[in-house]
Amino acid sequence: MTLLKWKDEYSVKEETVDEQHKGLFKLSNEIYNLVEAGVDDSEHFRELFMALNDYSVEHFIYEEMYMREQGYPDLDEHIQQHLDFSDKLKDLCVGIEKETHVKDIGKFVTTWLVEHVINEDMKYKEFVEDKN
Ligand SMILES: [Fe+2]
Ligand SMILES: [Fe+2]
Repeated sequence: MTLLKWKDEYSVKEETVDEQHKGLFKLSNEIYNLVEAGVDDSEHFRELFMALNDYSVEHFIYEEMYMREQGYPDLDEHIQQHLDFSDKLKDLCVGIEKETHVKDIGKFVTTWLVEHVINEDMKYKEFVEDKN
């Protein structure tokens, strides 16, 4: 798990989406800081990851609405990626009650977030830019 740093190049040029992405990075970093501080409370981490999941679902709904408004052609595939992330995170969080593997979940979340923003979200940003 790593600390996520926002970079200007992550901007999709849509203010609300950028704010939501920053919020997701912030939540992830709060979890990272607790891990680094040596906190060992799987129930607490489960709650934090589920809060991150709730916030990401809220973000996905907004982002999907934006892509739909813009006529983004690969919307269905993008929605599927959002669903897969949410399903996987929920599955991982069920397991957290049995065994502490907070770092693995954290790694999955941070890797997915950064890669999704810079690879997948950037695709609709470019589509909107090309269209205008
Ligand atoms: Fe997305
Ligand atoms: Fe996004």
